[in-house]
Amino acid sequence: MSKKQIAVHPLTLIPDHNVGLEISSWDEQKKSYEIIVDTDESISTETQNQLAMLSEPNCYIPADSLGVYRETLANNLNYLANDNSLSEIVKLSIICEYSRFRLSDALESLNFEHWVATAYTNANEFDQNVKNATKGKIESLGRKVLFALWKEGTYVNHSFNVGFYCYLLAKCMPKKLVEELDPVECMVSGILHDVGKLTNDIGDEDSPTMILPVGTLATKPIKKHDPHPSIGFKLLLRYPIITKLPLLACYQHHERHNGKGYPVGLYSEEIPIGSSICAAANRWDGLTTKRRGSKAISRFSALQTIQSEKSLYWNAEVVQCLAKLMS
Ligand SMILES: [Fe+2]
Ligand SMILES: [Fe+2]
Repeated sequence: MSKKQIAVHPLTLIPDHNVGLEISSWDEQKKSYEIIVDTDESISTETQNQLAMLSEPNCYIPADSLGVYRETLANNLNYLANDNSLSEIVKLSIICEYSRFRLSDALESLNFEHWVATAYTNANEFDQNVKNATKGKIESLGRKVLFALWKEGTYVNHSFNVGFYCYLLAKCMPKKLVEELDPVECMVSGILHDVGKLTNDIGDEDSPTMILPVGTLATKPIKKHDPHPSIGFKLLLRYPIITKLPLLACYQHHERHNGKGYPVGLYSEEIPIGSSICAAANRWDGLTTKRRGSKAISRFSALQTIQSEKSLYWNAEVVQCLAKLMS
């Protein structure tokens, strides 16, 4: 009987570096997993790229090797800063996946206070890792960043991805606006923007029950004017660690440039730039990941869609920055 397999991101493995992992890919014709790298071998750059540049990464390890994989990821993170031979996209993929796992662990604790605190520690650590590994040249990665991220729109993937795009946008926005924006705070806003989806009703209790959505998120809110921004806002107010930018972004990420968003119906100039960044990052991730009810679309189509919606929904400078990054 074949072993249970779990998907890992191929770009998180260091090429020509044996870590004792058996790596397989799914063969659609044979309808089975085929071993492509044995435990005494290492993955080559060519194989890695082939597996990564597909619409969905096709790279699996036996489920019982998850511990080895996570240890490898942590070790790989330590190598990054001093290794000039690694490509930037491999470095970034390792940093992203390490961060995503940390968020996933925090979510599984089902404790809001821990989740909110982890958003801050995670974003700070992410920023430090990116600075160490890329020597501050993250802007030049541009469109490649899509390959570093999972395209399945689960709650944790969406939180991390939106956080990542907010971070990237904050780093690349025109200087006059950047002065007001801290990329770490922006990343926190992306991580926490949908925190209101993690509970049905916060009531007056000190510790509201946290429910983690299962599977991929839905394309559209279940109800028109879904209450999750207001629920999230009230929830975040309970935690002294929360700062203004993520708090507002959580409340305002469904506001729209034309005043037809919710919960308030703010017009463009009334929406703070941090919330506008979060709104566009949220839309971008929604388009480029697989959701219940929709497939992931290419970055070209996603850019076209966002640009066509620009005058109605999004901040023009944010869209311009996104287009520059992803073109
Ligand atoms: Fe939302
Ligand atoms: Fe969202």
